[in-house]
Order: sequence, then C-alpha cells, then structure tokens
Amino acid sequence: MKTKLLGRTGISVSQLCFGTMSFGGDADEATSAAMYKNVRDAGINFLDTADEYSKGKSEEILGRLIKGHRDELVIATKCNSQQGPDVNARGTSRRHVVRAVDASLKRLGTDRLDILFLHRYDALTPIDESMRALEDVVRAGKVIYPAVSNWSAWQTQRGLDIQERSNWARLQVIQPMYSLVKRQAEVEILPMAEANGIGVIPYSPAAAGLLSGKYLGQATGRLKTNKMYEARYSDAWMFEVAEEYVAFCKERGLHPVSTAIAWVGAHPAVTAPIIGARNTDQLKDSLNATKIDMTPSLRAEIADLSRTPPPATDRLEEQKVARA
Ligand SMILES: NC(=O)c1ccc[n+]([C@@H]2O[C@H](COP(=O)([O-])OP(=O)(O)OC[C@H]3O[C@@H](n4cnc5c(N)ncnc54)[C@H](OP(=O)(O)O)[C@@H]3O)[C@@H](O)[C@H]2O)c1
Repeated sequence: MKTKLLGRTGISVSQLCFGTMSFGGDADEATSAAMYKNVRDAGINFLDTADEYSKGKSEEILGRLIKGHRDELVIATKCNSQQGPDVNARGTSRRHVVRAVDASLKRLGTDRLDILFLHRYDALTPIDESMRALEDVVRAGKVIYPAVSNWSAWQTQRGLDIQERSNWARLQVIQPMYSLVKRQAEVEILPMAEANGIGVIPYSPAAAGLLSGKYLGQATGRLKTNKMYEARYSDAWMFEVAEEYVAFCKERGLHPVSTAIAWVGAHPAVTAPIIGARNTDQLKDSLNATKIDMTPSLRAEIADLSRTPPPATDRLEEQKVARA
C-alpha cells in the first residue's frame, strides 16, 4: 500500500481509505472486526465513518477496534443528519456542529477527530455560520482538519474564501461521489480541488456495487434493498455502461471492482478512493485495486465506455473541433 500526502496538510494517508458505513448494519461486529483487521494488515491507515451510519453504531464499533493504536490512524467522521428528536439536532449550525462533534468523540472513544466532514450542504444555515462552526471545533482542539462532502464546487470555493478572509483553518479535504457512472465531479469539483490543493477522497468508486456486474444477474445488494441507492443508480444507461464495462474487464482478465476503484484513484486530483464492503470476500477485491496497473491509456479506454459530462460552459463544439 502506497501513501499520499493529503492536500496541503503534510500528513500521509494510504492510497485507499476504508469506509465503515456497513459497520453495525450490513456487517455485524464480528464481520466488521474481520474487515478491520484485513485493511490494517493491508497497510490502510485512513478510515471514514459518520454519525448517521447505523445510527452511531459504526462509530462505536470503530471506536472499539482502534483501541491501543489510535495514534497510527487518520480518522474522518461526518455530521449534518438528524440526531434524535430535537428540531435543532441537525444541519451545520454552530450549535449542532459543536454538539455533534462531542457525540462523535464519545462514540469513537478518542479526544480528537482528524477530519470532520460537513456531510451535506445545509441550505437552512448561512455558510459563514458553518465555517465559523468548523473554526470553533478546530480551536477547541477537537477537530484537526475541516472538510466538506457532497458540496458543489461553488459552495466549497465560497467556504474557502470565507475562511481565508477570516484567517480560519481551511477546508483540507472534500468527499464527492465519483465513479465511472457518476462523473459530474470531473467538470467543476475535481478541478476546483486541484486549483486549491485540497485532498479528494471520493465515495462509491464501484458505484455502490453496480460496477461489480452483479446487478446484471440475479444477485441482491444495496441497489435492490435500499430505495435511496436504487434511485441513485436507476438510469438504464448506467446499467448499459456496467454491462459493457464488465465485458471489457473480462476480456482483459481484470476484476471489475478492483479496476473501478483503481480508475477513480488514478484521476490526478484524487488522493484516495473510499472503499466499502459488507464482508471480507468483497473487501479482498477492493483491496486488490492497488495491484491494477491503471495506465493513462487504460484509464482513457475505460472512460470511453461511459458518458463524458459536458464542460461547465456547455461549449462542446470546441472539443469536437480540436479532436477532428
Ligand atoms: N459522503 C457520503 O455521502 C457517502 C455516501 C456513501 C458512502 N460513503 C463512504 O464511502 C464508503 C464506500 O462507499 P460504497 O460502499 O458505496 O463504495 P463502493 O466501493 O462503490 O461499493 C461497495 C459495495 O459494492 C458491493 N461490492 C463490493 N465488492 C463487491 C464484489 N466483489 N462483488 C459484489 N459486490 C461487491 C457491495 O455492495 P452490497 O453491500 O450491496 O453487497 C459493497 O458494499 C462508505 O463506507 C462510506 O464510508 C460516503
């Protein structure tokens, strides 16, 4: 496992981040522990969780697993989702972020979060309030690096500008959705991250399992049992891309899950794709992403199997003329 520098932080993280969304849900505690052991043995030091994963159980299980070697790890968690019945126990207000951080620290059994993601953009809270909330938890020593997930490029840039103007700790990491069938990030988010020197850890690099090819057959999984995921990957063209992609991998003797993750990891803006699994069998294929030789030409061939998102200006004609 190689390591990479995370944005402008000066810290080194493994080239894969392990996401623990399945802990306490699709994976019971024993399975979670077995996966944790395998990722640590493989050299992963970078872990992602969230307060909302299995209603806090993911953080609790992770907290038990990191005991005794917490200082060797870079741990990211997230806040924004509704926590309990209090109307204000949600979002990215200063009030909620401060409380959410304390609750995550308790569940994880640690005294600081290496990275705190605002999980989604909160349209009800003014962005300067959210940036100030991040500054507060950094100053309190409870969070080391502020970060955002699922924010658009303009929202992230606005946040950065406020932080710079106010001399506050800057956003150091973003966590966008990115895979062969979800390439919107290539248009604005990834160039914005490169321009600012921000670390990028994309989630769902295997399109939540679609790119494994299992949904082309009868197999079950999140895309059949979870309405949100079903909706996210419901377009017929995504299944067509998956079919062509899996056939492409088969022809070349490549595992589709390992290759999908390597494809995401090879984008120049990307620091570490976040891998996820419900058992050690699935995890093995994701960890094998590090063994794929993702050359620029292989990456381009795979990209051609999918739809390239149009440029932000929509001036496609200039690219067409340049290629002709
Ligand atoms: N910031 C956010 O909003 C956000 C959103 C989603 C995820 N995340 C983070 O990103 C992490 C990874 O996301 P993800 O789990 O969606 O990543 P992913 O790598 O795209 O998908 C992993 C899923 O693909 C399926 N899979 C993996 N290997 C397989 C194999 N060999 N054969 C068949 N199916 C296989 C499994 O689905 P089944 O479980 O259905 O079998 C597995 O759970 C999460 O743990 C979480 O930390 C963040």
